[in-house]
Amino acid sequence: MNDQPRLRRIRSFVRRPGRLTPGQKRALDELLPRYGIEPDLTDLRTAFEREAPLVVEIGFGNGQALAWMAANEAEKNFVGIEVHEPGVGRLLKSVDEAGLGNVRVAMRDAVEVLDEQVVPASLDEVRIYFPDPWPKKRHHKRRLIQPPVLERLAAKLRPGGLLHLATDWKPYAEWMLEALEQVPAFELMGDAFVPRPAWRPQTHFEQRGQKKGHEIVDILCRLRSAD
Ligand SMILES: C[S@@+](CC[C@H](N)C(=O)[O-])C[C@H]1O[C@@H](n2cnc3c(N)ncnc32)[C@H](O)[C@@H]1O
Repeated sequence: MNDQPRLRRIRSFVRRPGRLTPGQKRALDELLPRYGIEPDLTDLRTAFEREAPLVVEIGFGNGQALAWMAANEAEKNFVGIEVHEPGVGRLLKSVDEAGLGNVRVAMRDAVEVLDEQVVPASLDEVRIYFPDPWPKKRHHKRRLIQPPVLERLAAKLRPGGLLHLATDWKPYAEWMLEALEQVPAFELMGDAFVPRPAWRPQTHFEQRGQKKGHEIVDILCRLRSAD
């Protein structure tokens, strides 16, 4: 078991009864056994046949950004975490078609994965792109980026490890900064908001936000080293 209290919890997502296309259903049936991470695995690093820097993407949506990054950064291992079945099916298809051996998928609440399946200081990077903004005040409690989750991330990243956030919802960007200020283990890299780094492709939700005229911001921070 772990030390985190198991009270909770307000989840950051609502399970939508997403319709699976036949291709997505087949991908889940046939490919999840190959690329999926079982919930009883206690160290994500052991899901791979090789040792390599480990990047986790939380809430990958349709997974197209993840597939692109994994192809581009072939020297790293990637774990994608997502609860939305059609998105997982779509990613699995892309991973299989592109023959990406460096991707594994956990179809589970990321907070549970962090608590139960990640060893302290074992992650090199965590990327969270366009998490649900939950714009209504009464829903703010559902926002994924909050001090308790940031504390978990701080515990699981290695010293010097990178946390990369992006959003198209400015009030959420400000909220993220305030949450980060409450977790001094993280330090911002440069300005609070930075332009999209080259390793992040545009995502599906980003494009939707842009069509609505939303400004896009990226936030990069590091876990401070002990010294
Ligand atoms: C707004 S979408 C963004 C998807 C993608 N990153 C993009 O930019 O297109 C947020 C995604 O996060 C997923 N999500 C939210 N909370 C999660 C959690 N606790 N664990 C895993 N996935 C989560 C949702 O299912 C949803 O697909």
